[in-house]
Amino acid sequence: MNVLDFQRMKENNEKISMVTSYDYWSAQILARSNIDCILVGDSAAMVIHGHKTTVPATVDMMIQHIEAVSKGAPSKFIIGDMPFCSYRKGLDATMDTVDKMMKAGSQAIKLEGADDNITIIEHIVKSGIPVMGHIGLTPQSVFALGGFKVQGKNEEAAQKIYQQAFSLQAAGCFAIVLECIPYPLAQKITEDLTIPTIGIGAGPYTSGQVLVFQDLLGLQTEMKPKFLKTYLSGFELIKESLNQFDQEVKTKKFPNIHEHCFQG
Ligand code: KIV
Repeated sequence: MNVLDFQRMKENNEKISMVTSYDYWSAQILARSNIDCILVGDSAAMVIHGHKTTVPATVDMMIQHIEAVSKGAPSKFIIGDMPFCSYRKGLDATMDTVDKMMKAGSQAIKLEGADDNITIIEHIVKSGIPVMGHIGLTPQSVFALGGFKVQGKNEEAAQKIYQQAFSLQAAGCFAIVLECIPYPLAQKITEDLTIPTIGIGAGPYTSGQVLVFQDLLGLQTEMKPKFLKTYLSGFELIKESLNQFDQEVKTKKFPNIHEHCFQG
C-alpha cells in the first residue's frame, strides 16, 4: 500500500484497515497480516508507558517507536503520530520533528486538530510529506475537552467538525481520522469529502477503521470503550500460559530431560 491507495480504495468502495504498533515484535505480526497500514500512535504513551493520557508522549519516544516498527514491518505503509505540542512550536521546530519522524521510517505523519494547524499542514504537504488529519475527539486536548468524551453531539459542534474536515482536505491531507463522533456525522463527512476517513468510535460508514493493537487483541483490561470490539482474550491467554510455566517449574515438569536439555 502507498499513499495513493487510500484514495483508490475510497473510490472503489474498499474499506481501509489500520492498526497501531509501537514495537518490532507487533510490527512483525502486522507485516504478515492483511492489515493495510500501521499507525505508530502517540497512544504509546498510555499503552506502552503507562501514562493516563497521551500528553507525556515526546518526539524522542515516538522516534524510538517508529524505528522499531519500521524494522519489523518494512513493507507496510507507516504513519507516525506527531506528539503533544510538537507541531505548535513554530515552523522550524515542527519541520525538524517531521524530518526526524520521516527519517526514522514513517511514510506519512498524523497530527490532531484543524483551525490554527492548517498553515502548518499546508507547509508539510508542500514539502512532499503525506499528512493524515485527526478530528473529533483529539486526545492531546483531553484537558481542554474535559475528558475522553464523544464530540460533535450538538448541531453547532457537529457543524464545526464538518467544516474542519473540509479545511483539512483543502490543506492537502490524504485521509482524516474521525474519533468518537456520532455515526451520522461521520457518514455525512465521509460521503461529502473526496478523501477517505478512518474511524474509531465513529460508526460503520467511514472509509476505514483503526484500532489500537492491544485493545483489539484484548491485551489490556483497563479500558473497554463502547466502540471497541476485542478479537482475542490476549491478556487472559498470556496469563494462563505464564501460570502453566510457573506450575511446570514448581512441579519439575519443565524442562523435560529428553526435549529441553543438553547431554554434554
Ligand atoms: O494514537 C493513536 O493510537 C491514535 C488512534 C486512536 C487514531 O491516534
